[in-house]
Amino acid sequence: MATLIAPSMLSANFGNLASDIEMVNNSEADLFHLDIMDGLFVPNISYGFPVVKAISELAKKPMDAHLMIVDPDRYIERFAKEGVKYLSVHIEACTHLHRTIQNIKECGMKAGVALNPHTPAYMIKEIIADTDFVLVMSVNPGFGGQSFIASSLNKIREIRDMASKAAPNLLIEVDGGVSKENAPLLVEAGADILVAGNSIFSKSSPSETIKELKQLTR
Ligand code: DX5
Ligand code: ZN
Repeated sequence: MATLIAPSMLSANFGNLASDIEMVNNSEADLFHLDIMDGLFVPNISYGFPVVKAISELAKKPMDAHLMIVDPDRYIERFAKEGVKYLSVHIEACTHLHRTIQNIKECGMKAGVALNPHTPAYMIKEIIADTDFVLVMSVNPGFGGQSFIASSLNKIREIRDMASKAAPNLLIEVDGGVSKENAPLLVEAGADILVAGNSIFSKSSPSETIKELKQLTR
């Protein structure tokens, strides 16, 4: 499968969001990555439903929402109603993860489990077969523009290895500090979806960077 590129809208220009959405629509990107932060699970607050709705009205590609919030069960149905197709919750924020994953799937979305950098790969052992994708955080969640944590590469390899037996169709998404420099290594380790915020939106031609990321990961 070709690697999917998911620009993180956290790094978009919120004063002119429509133009950044158009850029993603017209680029080689595959998904819109939406970072939802509550100021509790992570030390930052990002945006909520009014912005998700605004994006959904203009987006011509599927939305991938990454919930960095406590007790995410409260909002699963609401994200489905807003048209989100991929929904990930943090393993560290879920007491009954199996139930949460089933709820996401029952709402018609792809269910993802996100892992903080300190959470070992083996934590997903009992849930991997029920999961559509695993999101490996390669920075501590909360902010865009941080440096890639190198040990994430090994974690991707471990998850790919676990998945080869237990969940052959599992997708691995990597999020945080992804750039043209590390993208080929991430794909080689087993990543299927690359999230990139700062490395795309800080450039004078973001769509050109998306194209380059796509080419580097073919
Ligand atoms: C961080 C978010 C990321 C972030 C990625 O908590 O989950 O999606 O926006 O941004 P970059 O690519 O700038 O690290
Ligand atoms: Zn994210």
